[in-house]
Amino acid sequence: MESSVILGIETSCDETSAAVLETPYWLRGHVVSSQDEHSLYGGVVPEIAARAHLKLIDKVVRKTLDDAGCQLGEIDAVAVTAGPGLIAALLVGVSWAKGFAFGLGKPLIPVHHMEGHLFAPSLENNEARPPFVALLVSGGHTLLMYVPKWGEYELLGQTRDDAAGEAFDKVSKLLGLGYPGGPVIEERSHQGLDDRYRFPRPMLRTDQNRHDSGYYDFSFSGLKTAVARKVEELKGRGTLEESVSDIAASFQSAAVEVLCKKTMRAVKEKACSRVLLGGGVSANSRLKKDLTEELFPDGVLYYSSPRLSADNAAMIACAGAFRFQQGETARSDLSADPNLPLPGLRGPQR
Ligand code: KG4
Ligand code: ZN
Repeated sequence: MESSVILGIETSCDETSAAVLETPYWLRGHVVSSQDEHSLYGGVVPEIAARAHLKLIDKVVRKTLDDAGCQLGEIDAVAVTAGPGLIAALLVGVSWAKGFAFGLGKPLIPVHHMEGHLFAPSLENNEARPPFVALLVSGGHTLLMYVPKWGEYELLGQTRDDAAGEAFDKVSKLLGLGYPGGPVIEERSHQGLDDRYRFPRPMLRTDQNRHDSGYYDFSFSGLKTAVARKVEELKGRGTLEESVSDIAASFQSAAVEVLCKKTMRAVKEKACSRVLLGGGVSANSRLKKDLTEELFPDGVLYYSSPRLSADNAAMIACAGAFRFQQGETARSDLSADPNLPLPGLRGPQR
């Protein structure tokens, strides 16, 4: 297969990122600029994110091209996150990429953000390719799928309310630990007792079978409410401060148990013990450790390093390269879509 050079652009949330990927795996340049200003507000403020992308995108791309030693004439296609995400933020990347691709006279490839997360581990490990069971856990999505081949995604389960990362962020806010919640909850969990509080394991009952609609689905909002009640109770008693690490650890333990058990249901039903973990929450060590243990000794867990598990343009270039190879390029009227459906996603085959 002939190699191609893909410029990837990602602006769906609060990271402005660009990457030059020479297919299949040579990441020649990659810059991720994270916007810190949102921590002040306890979450991402869409207008601030969009303005920051606008301010940063030229510089980020220029540095990426310089680092890669890449001449404009070498670029074969421009891949950009077209959705899902924050509309104002997405529009900055899409408009920029459109103009740039048009100026170069090269094709533009729209990429689904979660397909990017799915491809990320393959940038570091040649083995991280289908068939596998995929658990994608980010701030906006929780998807459990069976992936027989790239581009074919059988949806097994998804969240019915909050995403897994969103639950970490909300619990962190309740505990006064700031945004983003995942890393700080994980850190505090190391100092806490994970069985001090028995929080619910939503939609995880042993009497469920694969014909129950909730067998693979997730729900994290009830878990968050249970934490909120405990926080109020301890506040009332004046003992919240000394219990924060135990609450963090007990919450993490509940969330991770649900994610692991549902993934293992898919492993069993699909008779496929190759599992791919992707999205921002895949940086969580407890989740990686528990899944690895569950899969031992026959299975294998693929995930990326923290740099590629959080939002980044390398994964967008990588998924874009696949779509480019399929001959899929955008029309000139491409726009960002905050609710973009994952291409190739189909319902459960039960
Ligand atoms: O994929 P991502 O970077 O952005 C989205 O596409 O949403 O995921 C961000 C989410 C946030 O909710 C963040 O709290 C969570 O990933 N996260 C973690 C960890 N690191 C980031 N959650 C649990 N443990 C972590 N170590
Ligand atoms: Zn993401």
